[in-house]
Amino acid sequence: MKICIIGTGYVGLVTGVCFSDLGHNVVCVDNNIKKIENLKKGFIPIFEPGLDELVKKNYKAKRLNFTNDITYSVKKSNLIFICVGTPTKKKSYSADLSQIFSVVNVISKNINKFKIIITKSTVPVTTGDKIEKLISQKKSKKLFSVVSNPEFLREGEAIRDFMYPDRIVVGTSNSKANSLLKSLYEPIIKRGGKYLNTSRRAAELIKYSSNSFLATKISFINEIANLCEKVNVDIQDISVGMGLDSRIGSRFLRAGPGYGGSCFPKDTRALLNTAKKFNTKLSIINSAVKSNEKRNDILFSKIKKISKGKIFKKRITFLGVTFKPNTDDMRESPALKLIPKLHKQGAKISYYDPSGLKISFKTYKNVIFYNKISSACKNSDLIILHTEWNEFRNLNFKKLVGHNRFSVYDMRNIYSQKKMSNNGIKYFKI
Ligand code: UDX
Ligand code: UDX
Repeated sequence: MKICIIGTGYVGLVTGVCFSDLGHNVVCVDNNIKKIENLKKGFIPIFEPGLDELVKKNYKAKRLNFTNDITYSVKKSNLIFICVGTPTKKKSYSADLSQIFSVVNVISKNINKFKIIITKSTVPVTTGDKIEKLISQKKSKKLFSVVSNPEFLREGEAIRDFMYPDRIVVGTSNSKANSLLKSLYEPIIKRGGKYLNTSRRAAELIKYSSNSFLATKISFINEIANLCEKVNVDIQDISVGMGLDSRIGSRFLRAGPGYGGSCFPKDTRALLNTAKKFNTKLSIINSAVKSNEKRNDILFSKIKKISKGKIFKKRITFLGVTFKPNTDDMRESPALKLIPKLHKQGAKISYYDPSGLKISFKTYKNVIFYNKISSACKNSDLIILHTEWNEFRNLNFKKLVGHNRFSVYDMRNIYSQKKMSNNGIKYFKI
């Protein structure tokens, strides 16, 4: 099948490359010409393990191509995946769908034969109806079908999540579209991926509900962690004890600095906005969002407490600043709030992240990036383990810091309290 992917961000690029790796003919379109030029030269704009080999292999095999010519690409394809951004609107909770509708407008002018238009981007429930209405003003409904096929890709594991998904959700009541999508995903279904056909609106809502539930699960365990700190219980025992109940499940029960990324914060807010629009209260998700927003202040006051209230001129090292490991994505990472707050109180901050220097901190004169863990930790008063990159799992802190009067604040509970205390290190965890 001829597939056109519009938007080569995290989702669009992974989706296009993986479809081409399954043997389909894919053209990836983006209106960012620089991005397209770089992709043609094999420079991948995102940090996604395993992606660059797949791009090179499939580009070389001519199953994968890149262009910013959306008109030509739409005309020659029969499946068109919309993967453009749907960020949260400024000063509101609602999803900004301007990129979606501008792409839909171009598509509607280039429907020269039957096309299936698939929203892969996360869009509020009923968006598919709006897209269908928009296109039917220009083209007869016999010439196209609008389908919802949400993605469940985690950054850093996106290729694995695509190739070995728990489920493939396809929202359409058009049998022709459904059978085409089913044959498109055949190789993955054969490997055990569950194919689920629902109504278009159900598929749109499954995506938001799944992400909001996972976000709620994280806020839940983070609040239990607050209680554990008061009653001197190890939150990791609670996570294990709860997780062994198959109805709860052990994943997404790790207490930390609060969830970040480009999805959970955006999708929970968008779902709350949808509920408000339809005059329904989603009070549980609302409190999970509020709890996560407050968590940053809780961690900041903990840092102050560990530093005995003295932040001014304190040398603080952040190990990891991205919202999670194996990605370069800083969107809504807790560090984006913690570092400026500490900088404002006069701390001297060094940071190391395997994904490299972050422009977000360039304007802060006392925030310095080091490209080695040892240089970032040297002479530090406080080491903050912010992101659980694998290379942080076995560090000799005393050697790295070069003196003994430092503390470690482990925001991901990577280390064991016992071992650190036996090693004479002032260690704090969640
Ligand atoms: C996006 C959505 O933000 C998310 O809601 C959804 O779940 C998956 O798709 P992401 O891939 O991270 O996530 O988006 P982003 O990184 O913003 O990439 C979007 C791409 O679309 C960008 O490369 C942008 O240049 C491109 N784009 C945007 C177009 O090609 N045309 C447009 O009109 C607008
Ligand atoms: C998420 C969903 O997992 C994925 O299905 C959806 O398609 C997109 O959004 P992603 O945002 O890439 O994926 O990251 P994820 O691994 O889900 O982590 C999200 C946030 O939750 C991160 O900030 C992470 O640090 C945090 N987290 C995750 C926890 O704090 N504890 C956990 O146990 C798991």
